[in-house]
Amino acid sequence: MQIKKINLLLLVIFLVMHCNVAYCVRITVLGSGYVGLITGACFAEFGHEVICADTDVAKITVLQNNHMPIYEPGLKELVIRNVQQKRLSFTNDIDQAIAYAEGIFIAVGTPMDNAGCADLTALSNAFAMIIPHLTSYKLICVKSTVPIGTGQALLEILKSKGIDSHYYDVVSNPEFLREGTAISDFMNPDRIIIGTASEMAQEWMRLIYEPLLEKRIPCIFTTIESSETIKYASNAFLATKLSFINEIANLCDQTGADIFDVSKGMGLDSRIGQAFLKPGPGFGGSCFPKDCSALSQMGNKFGVALNVVQAALKTNEEQKYKPLQKLRVLMKHESLTDKTIAVLGLAFKGNTDDVRYSPAIVTIENLKNEGAQVKAYDPVASENMKKIVPDIIYSHSLYEAVSGADAVIIMTEWDEFKYIDLGLLAELVKQKIVVDARNLLDPRELKKFGFSYSLIGRP
Ligand code: UGA
Repeated sequence: MQIKKINLLLLVIFLVMHCNVAYCVRITVLGSGYVGLITGACFAEFGHEVICADTDVAKITVLQNNHMPIYEPGLKELVIRNVQQKRLSFTNDIDQAIAYAEGIFIAVGTPMDNAGCADLTALSNAFAMIIPHLTSYKLICVKSTVPIGTGQALLEILKSKGIDSHYYDVVSNPEFLREGTAISDFMNPDRIIIGTASEMAQEWMRLIYEPLLEKRIPCIFTTIESSETIKYASNAFLATKLSFINEIANLCDQTGADIFDVSKGMGLDSRIGQAFLKPGPGFGGSCFPKDCSALSQMGNKFGVALNVVQAALKTNEEQKYKPLQKLRVLMKHESLTDKTIAVLGLAFKGNTDDVRYSPAIVTIENLKNEGAQVKAYDPVASENMKKIVPDIIYSHSLYEAVSGADAVIIMTEWDEFKYIDLGLLAELVKQKIVVDARNLLDPRELKKFGFSYSLIGRP
């Protein structure tokens, strides 16, 4: 039976390679959050037939009505195009979606639990729903970020339930998508990581990723454990790079050096590289904080000291207080009670409406605790922030937010803030005080318009 299936698969691969026929795989993606939705839409764009399934009825209804539950540039167009071409659909009927698929991608959330570990409840639920359908071969591919050892644990479960091993493979295929550029990251990745010991599963993954392999995108086939480790180690490394540059920027603040020149001078060393050397108010989002924490817990579990990762997290927590510390200095340590502070930017970074672990939350909460009145503005993230911090003023425009403000703090790198009209800003504010926690503004221009200002690591 196994041999028959391999022969069939080899035939398909032969046809694809020699007759220029693309084999379209029937794929179900479980979980229509950030990763699931992008993955499903991009696989459909490759030509596969994709169902995105989710237990959240409201989310699926939104998608079925051609609306997007998240803000991601280019996503709506991509989804609508593939829905119209009948390659992409959305459902709450998980069982039917699993039954339909040759390849099932699990892309459910693995948020941080109270102990700082990854919460695998959604993954376990999704996996449990797949098991009854393993009466013929299905490829089970884990895209969610899961602790090292999870893939093997899933294989053990299937073995312990006595499921015929010809009917499944478990693959680890982590994602490296950045919010805001997720579609181009998917379509043109630096690498594809595929963790599986099964040759059959490798062939299925080759079929699925054919359009990228054709473009000669590097693809690493490895073990499940190595693949799971690559995901955590990559995120923790980038987070460490950020905490490092934030500390160097803080040093620049004291010495008069300019972090722009320092980052450039360091980054031109090809061993270091330019990316992720922009200092800021600390990293946020649903990935770095949770993955560094989970990795650190894995170190504890396996008795391995992951001091660097823990230090990156500690530095990041401290960095989140920098904007407020800088504000206090600029305001000569006056009480903030009844002062109006405009906070520009709520998302954890630009081009997203995601406010999870956003440094802006820390800044706003502390301003509130000190009795300040906060007027906040973000081009797209206000609605999400209202769910976390309902009791501040949300402005509809940048200039509405800054009107009458005693100080302005820039928290997110939106282009709109970069090209702010400083002349108009100077007229609208009550006091000309600016903390630019993203280094968007030119210090010379700020000086020219008479602002007291503080950037991160720039004189
Ligand atoms: C991150 C990784 O970059 C992706 O490769 C990974 O797939 C994703 O996590 C995930 O695990 O799902 P993301 O959280 O969307 O992606 O955002 P990044 O662009 O990596 O930014 C993370 C944080 O670092 C943000 O708060 C951002 O403002 C900050 N950052 C980034 C800086 O402060 N400076 C920089 O130079 C770059």
